[in-house]
Amino acid sequence: MGSCGRTMYATLISFEERVNTGQVAMFCNKMTSTIAAFCLSGLWGTIQLLEARDLQNCVPRKTVAYQPENLNIFWKPGLSNFSTLLVSEETNTLYAGAKDYILALDLNDISKEITREVWFAPEDRQLECLRRGKSKAECQNYILLLHEINATSFYICGTNAFHPACRYMVIDDRKLKLQSKAVESRGRCPFEPRTRYASLMVDGALYSATSNNFLGTEPIILRSLRNPLRTEFKASWLNEPTFIHIDLVQESNASSDTDRIYVFFTETAVEFEFYDKLLVSRMAQICKGDLGGKRTLKKKWTSFLKATLVCSAPESDFQFNVLQAVFVFKTTNWRETIFYGIFTQQWGRLDISAVCAFKMEAVKDVFLKGNFKGPVAVENSHTKWVVHRADVPTPRPGACLDNSAQRQEYSSSLDLPDRVLQFVRDHPLMDSNVDPVGRQPVLLKRGTRYTQLVVDRTRGLDNATYDIFFLGTDKGYLHKAVNLQGAMFIVEELQLFPSLEPVQTLKLAPQKGLFYAGSPSHLVQIPVATCSQYKCCFDCVLARDPYCAWSLSLRSCILVTNQSGGSQDLIQCVRNGDASRCPEVGRRTFSLSQR
Ligand SMILES: *[C@@H]1O[C@H](CO)[C@@H](O)[C@H](O)[C@H]1NC(C)=O
Repeated sequence: MGSCGRTMYATLISFEERVNTGQVAMFCNKMTSTIAAFCLSGLWGTIQLLEARDLQNCVPRKTVAYQPENLNIFWKPGLSNFSTLLVSEETNTLYAGAKDYILALDLNDISKEITREVWFAPEDRQLECLRRGKSKAECQNYILLLHEINATSFYICGTNAFHPACRYMVIDDRKLKLQSKAVESRGRCPFEPRTRYASLMVDGALYSATSNNFLGTEPIILRSLRNPLRTEFKASWLNEPTFIHIDLVQESNASSDTDRIYVFFTETAVEFEFYDKLLVSRMAQICKGDLGGKRTLKKKWTSFLKATLVCSAPESDFQFNVLQAVFVFKTTNWRETIFYGIFTQQWGRLDISAVCAFKMEAVKDVFLKGNFKGPVAVENSHTKWVVHRADVPTPRPGACLDNSAQRQEYSSSLDLPDRVLQFVRDHPLMDSNVDPVGRQPVLLKRGTRYTQLVVDRTRGLDNATYDIFFLGTDKGYLHKAVNLQGAMFIVEELQLFPSLEPVQTLKLAPQKGLFYAGSPSHLVQIPVATCSQYKCCFDCVLARDPYCAWSLSLRSCILVTNQSGGSQDLIQCVRNGDASRCPEVGRRTFSLSQR
């Protein structure tokens, strides 16, 4: 809107409390501010006006405490540990994997249960699990994998009392039914219910990143159900990893062998010499069409390459080397894919979270053009990892071969020459790092540990696109943030659960404008925006929520839909929160002038 005036930024201090408790001092440091009074649905509130200089590390503009009457909640005694959520917009169903249960809930109102199915670990397994020294709680069946094969059939896996198992499940006449026998499935699902893991189903094949043994000492990235392949069990491939996320990026319209799968994890670095274990965050690529080698790397990935993800704050010397969560933002053009990661530090202040964004272009540069690292033997049979300066064999390791393409020298990875396979086996690590957009975090937040994120894109009335971040915290809050001219603005903070449990899962249903958060004991459904919470024009406009605008005719804050763009009736100014068009402006009670 042309009416966006000077760059002012306002923070609502809700109902004096913050002023009284001295929290004002914590507001965005390095900012000048004035306090002005204004109306809030007839009550007198206070706002703080700030020059928008350094919006990083701001506290949320508004904090909303737990309000069960405004949220759709799923909570039932006996049901807990909602580890995995599956959003099916086509069938209007939210599937949840819990301890011993699989649930189907109404996507429009998750407090409505459609059906559930039970899958207990067999009694002899539970006894065996207890005998091996595990607790009663651990010796249950935590459903950790829940994948849709088509609208009515699913593939599910559970820890099954430290004896992971998978099976098929169908939904028929709104009833879930387990199919077939449970099959022992190590490498697909963790043994231990708290272990971080990642999994993905593509074209009937299951890709899983987890541990392959009872003790949790053998990490694996496995493809099963079709064309089974796995990682080499070597520290140079995976060294005590914590798996965070796995995702597919389709590089063509139709599914193709040259599509890539990316795995995100934190592991102990092998390439640095350090007195202590140094953690690094990595992203690995594998080709969907990989079929393994013929002799060398038989039934192993021949396209596995990994690179370090860097997330650091240059001014502060902070290194955020521990990855907590990843969201892959996809558009219709795969080249525009953005990988968002939440990072924390290994040492120092553990309550600082950073969000870094990585562009597909940067990822491609590293894997397709970058140098490799290679091991050289030094004294005492010690290995040093240095940049590999000698020739790289062709075809270049990590290039995805099109198995269906005629007339090409290598029609699949089974044809790859031994020198290529040996090189891949010995050089999984790239020399260059993947650097974040702007070479710094897009969001830096003190005093908060973020656990999960999803990102949604929307168009404001100014026709600009805004990427909205929904971040879950370890205390059960949700932060909604928007990147405005390179600085993050936290629109609001919402308490999701009655107790301070961490947000463990976060899933978006973009077409519905809803998302779903899970803690160990609760599931909640949240709309991407609750514009009606803003009772007067100022509050609505100052919120700078790209989903919301003030309607002069309706005298209410409404959700901006695609049709409403450009209307003279609506006031929105996401860029700088200029509320000068609001009718209240003329009232003596509100003054923009400095005191
Ligand atoms: C399961 O949920 C309960 C709370 O409902 C929690 O105390 C426990 O730690 C969870 N267990 C696992 C393995 O996540």
